[in-house]
Amino acid sequence: MGVICVGTVMNVCWRAVFLLGKRSILPKYLYPDQKKTNEYPTYLLIGLTNLCTTLCKFCYRRDLDLRPAFFPVERYESLMDELGPHLDILEFSGIGEPLLHKDFRRFVLYTRRKFGPGKLTLRLVSNGSLLGEQMRRFLVHQSFGQVWFSVNAATIETYSKIMPHLDFDGLCKSVYELVALRNILGLRVPHVHLSFVVTRDNYFEAEKFVDLAFEMGADSISIRPLDKELNPRIFWEQQPPKEEFDPILERIEDRTRQDKRVWCAPRWGFFPKAYQETRDKSTAISCGNAENTFGVYFTSGEVTFCCYMAAEIENEINCLGNIYDSSALEIWNGPRAQAFRRSMKDIRAAPDICLRCSNFWNKEWVCPSNG
Ligand SMILES: C[S@@+](CC[C@H](N)C(=O)[O-])C[C@H]1O[C@@H](n2cnc3c(N)ncnc32)[C@H](O)[C@@H]1O
Ligand code: SF4
Ligand code: SF4
Repeated sequence: MGVICVGTVMNVCWRAVFLLGKRSILPKYLYPDQKKTNEYPTYLLIGLTNLCTTLCKFCYRRDLDLRPAFFPVERYESLMDELGPHLDILEFSGIGEPLLHKDFRRFVLYTRRKFGPGKLTLRLVSNGSLLGEQMRRFLVHQSFGQVWFSVNAATIETYSKIMPHLDFDGLCKSVYELVALRNILGLRVPHVHLSFVVTRDNYFEAEKFVDLAFEMGADSISIRPLDKELNPRIFWEQQPPKEEFDPILERIEDRTRQDKRVWCAPRWGFFPKAYQETRDKSTAISCGNAENTFGVYFTSGEVTFCCYMAAEIENEINCLGNIYDSSALEIWNGPRAQAFRRSMKDIRAAPDICLRCSNFWNKEWVCPSNG
């Protein structure tokens, strides 16, 4: 009798599992629509222009042969029509200064008309040189979720050396005013993040920058190393002196433990140890970009999963397609993207750019500006 009962119960369970497996015969309200992984990107990054208001000493655009150009409004709108419903984050960034695009507001207004703030987080990565009062109001009123400014200095002298022709005091004031406006209106966003890439010209100001950033009202800051993947030449030329910077870095790391708003790359430099530790394991990949990120860094329309692939776009493995030749989803689900994803899953076959990349190895690489 007991055997029959157990048998019957198991039979019922298996039938339930079978029916649930074929969910389409169950009423639709019993299960939410689930996106298949990879079917759509959830993070779109657009470079609105290749032009910039300065030429930072450490910027990887120095060695790129970029044609001065602007992202066309019509292609942006069709891209948003296609990808917008699936996106969580839309970032205006790329290899230039996004606020230089004369139609920047048009892009944002089109996006917001179709997708409200609850649906889509807008992020701007900018040097802040064009952040006047009107633009500050616009960013706040359009509910930008995050605004990320590249500062890289704590004094006018250092700033002018690294980011020539830009106005340091003007930037500090603009950041302060942006935060003040948000607070006066009683809003939670934009989250204002300030970033500092450490070079030989500014390493001694890193701690001062942390203090200054919070005086300006920043919600979080990042102290980041130069990216070797973006430009090895600049990486080596601009390295801070190790003996002098190490104690500074240690103090900053202490600060990150005490204050969650301070973030600094957990494994500094070029990660040889992390690389060695994980080299022989076949399941060490922590980067999720290939599952979610659709990056259009250049106005010429090439698509990549990240800025490192963009920086080596002349290697054809790194180019997933071009938005002027195909639809976004054709590229996202196309043979090149699929091949790249497949090869990332096996360390022995992984793309060269990934094997050299800290994101590939480093599981702690999460920045607070994404929180
Ligand atoms: C290329 S900029 C474009 C947006 C804007 N012009 C800005 O500076 O914020 C995007 C980011 O790349 C970073 N970047 C540029 N060159 C770099 C390098 N060689 N190493 C690490 N980060 C770099 C900048 O600090 C900035 O945060
Ligand atoms: S402001 Fe940004 S894009 Fe322009 S040169 Fe500096 S880092 Fe590069
Ligand atoms: S591992 Fe690095 S190079 Fe490869 S897709 Fe991720 S971020 Fe890009």
